[in-house]
Amino acid sequence: MDGVLKHVGIIVDGNGRWAKSQGKSRSEGHLAGSNNLEKLIIHISNTDLKYLSLYVFSNENFKRDIKEVSYLMNLFVKMFKHVSKKYKDYNIKIIFSGRRDKLPINVLKEMDKLTRETKDNTGLVVNFCLNYSSHLEIIDAIKKIQKDNLKIEELNEDIMNKYLYQDLPPIDLLIRTSGEQRLSNFMLWQLYYAELFFTKTYFPDFTEKEYDSIIEDFYKRNRRFGGV
Ligand code: FPP
Repeated sequence: MDGVLKHVGIIVDGNGRWAKSQGKSRSEGHLAGSNNLEKLIIHISNTDLKYLSLYVFSNENFKRDIKEVSYLMNLFVKMFKHVSKKYKDYNIKIIFSGRRDKLPINVLKEMDKLTRETKDNTGLVVNFCLNYSSHLEIIDAIKKIQKDNLKIEELNEDIMNKYLYQDLPPIDLLIRTSGEQRLSNFMLWQLYYAELFFTKTYFPDFTEKEYDSIIEDFYKRNRRFGGV
């Protein structure tokens, strides 16, 4: 590992509280969050970052009111349809992490289409964590390892990485919006040496400028990876 920033993770949070503070519905908050995310992804694709992981729907989020869940699922479908051409123009490659079960068929269809359509792009890789749980990712990896009859003595960090949903480098910097200071079951394996950055800004108000200032702050931190 070196000090270069390759992989940023963002826990997208605060759409609901943003909406409340504006006298709007939670759905309006999610729509504003989604529009903001679209802008932010394009901005980041113009920097030299290689990987961006976004926590947009956790496995636990299925516990929310069915109306909110179904609004979000439809929003994902709309957003994925809408951005497809744009991502091709910006050379962005889309991948997904999470379990496929519980996701409606129309969401899965758009996820697969977007993955297919952007698979040869060589710019920023955006990893959407959708129906994602880090604990389940580790459990699913162990099940696959057993299925492949891999000798457990041979297991090492590189092999483990290959059995996760996506084989990605570690996250260097984690940003969580909305003032909450938790990891909420997000990419716990990949975050092992990440610098953590919490901002009080609700996600719909999180600007490209604030993102850039966090990146600047990251480069001022002294990362020792356990050394001196
Ligand atoms: C957090 O706000 C956000 C979510 C649960 C996920 C929704 C994310 C988006 C709508 C971004 C768009 C992404 C795509 C791929 C279309 P919250 O509801 O937890 O806010 P709160 O904690 O203030 O209630």
